[in-house]
Amino acid sequence: MIIVPGPASQILGFKIGRLLKTDVIPVDFKRFPDGETYIRIDGDIKNKHVAVVQTTFPTNPHLIELFLLLDTARDLGASKISAVVPYLAYARQDKRFRPGEAISIKTIIRLIENTGVDELFTINIHEESVLSDFHFPTINLSAMKDIGMHLQKYRLKEPYVVSPDQGAESLAKQVAEVLNSDVGCCFKKRDLITGEIETEMVELAIKDRDAVIVDDIISTGGTIVNAAKMLKAQGAQRVFVGASHALLIQNARTRIMQAQVEEIIGTDTVSNEVSKISVAPLIANALT
Ligand code: R5P
Repeated sequence: MIIVPGPASQILGFKIGRLLKTDVIPVDFKRFPDGETYIRIDGDIKNKHVAVVQTTFPTNPHLIELFLLLDTARDLGASKISAVVPYLAYARQDKRFRPGEAISIKTIIRLIENTGVDELFTINIHEESVLSDFHFPTINLSAMKDIGMHLQKYRLKEPYVVSPDQGAESLAKQVAEVLNSDVGCCFKKRDLITGEIETEMVELAIKDRDAVIVDDIISTGGTIVNAAKMLKAQGAQRVFVGASHALLIQNARTRIMQAQVEEIIGTDTVSNEVSKISVAPLIANALT
């Protein structure tokens, strides 16, 4: 196997290559003044199994790079192509919430599929059921065990794992299993037009205990801020946050810290200052 790390996942791609002790072929890339993208796979991949590693955040430019990489790998004669897309964008628009809306993830799936890839690996996709729209094997890996294991370092006091909405309940359960802790769930409503969220007050036996809020994505931080405030108001001692994809748009990190969160634990599906866990071993293991 050969790893081809896309512009959005250079370091992660090299880490995976190192773990697999396999060749890594660099990609030349640049953006033209008009915004167009240039991609060049700098090596021979003919008749080889190629794993293209490319996350899709910031979203649109990195999606175009992903399509170009996958299509070029096919053009250059790769015998098998694995698309490794740690954060698959647009998965939250998985239905027509309002009449006339694009079901964006369906379009993205079709575009990936049309490049002729053989399989797709992703991590904690927002809505797993959308993967059934692919007509080839898809593997949704979970970083939750790693997040749980990382949290063990903090010697949490009677930990209570909480999902900030119903969608993240299964993720919270995975972390709770590692921590051998209680698990609870908040209820969230989002205004479809303004995007404003409201979190319903849920009574949890959290007083004087450490809490962990678990979600797949942190975008503006609003979901986490609401949950953290609720837990603090009920007497939680320390509040930690674990998320697979900490996008941290604008001042999300500051807002979350202002809500008295001790620490945000993210992964390098999106690489930034809170990426405390690398998903390289998870992906390397899945590729073997
Ligand atoms: C949606 O339900 C996701 O699981 C996240 O909860 C959401 O994307 C977080 O968005 P924000 O940080 O903007 O509240």
